[in-house]
Amino acid sequence: MFIDEMNLDQMNLDQMNLVQMHISQFSYSDCRIKLAVDDWELQQAQALRKAVFVVEQGIFQTSDHDLFDSSADTLIATIGMLGIPDAVVGTVRIHEQEPGVWVGSRLAVDCAFRADKGLGKALIRMAVGSARARGCKAFYANVQVQNVALFQKLGWHAVGEVTVHGVGHMFMQANLNLFPVARDPGCGFVHLINPSGRVASIGEMA
Ligand SMILES: CC(C)(COP(=O)(O)OP(=O)(O)OC[C@H]1O[C@@H](n2cnc3c(N)ncnc32)[C@H](O)[C@@H]1OP(=O)(O)O)[C@@H](O)C(=O)NCCC(=O)NCCS
Repeated sequence: MFIDEMNLDQMNLDQMNLVQMHISQFSYSDCRIKLAVDDWELQQAQALRKAVFVVEQGIFQTSDHDLFDSSADTLIATIGMLGIPDAVVGTVRIHEQEPGVWVGSRLAVDCAFRADKGLGKALIRMAVGSARARGCKAFYANVQVQNVALFQKLGWHAVGEVTVHGVGHMFMQANLNLFPVARDPGCGFVHLINPSGRVASIGEMA
């Protein structure tokens, strides 16, 4: 009886350790790349844009809002625990400039989540993929010069140098064939990351 209880206790301990291991491995930052729909998502995306383009880069004095915000879609990267998102750590917006011609802008990732987690790439993928789902025939972005290599790695090509808000940019075009259509941006796709970097993307992209 005593031994059985000991075994049971040991088993429960092993199971708890296993559950804790899975929680720490997978819930640290399970990240969803999706269309922002809820107010908190839009507010946090706006706050992140302000932190990056006003405070960090100083491109704008007080706000980076412009007339495109009224018609643009905001795409976000959210993190949370156990699949429940509670913070926006990346954003980009897209808008249709003329029929079939889409533009991406205001790409920003929280500085604590940059460079090794693939969030920038995942947001670019969702930006082009969701524009394609809405009939995009050409997709462009003004890319800050320090980020040109990142876009080139994703198969974008440079169209020409431009100055936007006093900052040097490269006007670039995406190769649409390299970006799968995102049929359900509201649901988006899951991008698993852990403290040491990106693990995997599990998508609903076609
Ligand atoms: C540009 C930005 C969105 C990139 O997002 P990110 O999440 O850091 O990018 P990713 O993790 O997807 O990195 C993609 C690749 O670029 C590399 N990379 C990203 N930022 C880098 C940096 N500052 N220096 C060197 N390499 C970098 C990554 O190592 C990765 O390389 P890999 O494909 O070989 O793995 C992010 O740095 C940012 O928010 N910057 C400030 C705002 C800004 O510049 N916006 C863009 C306007 S065009």
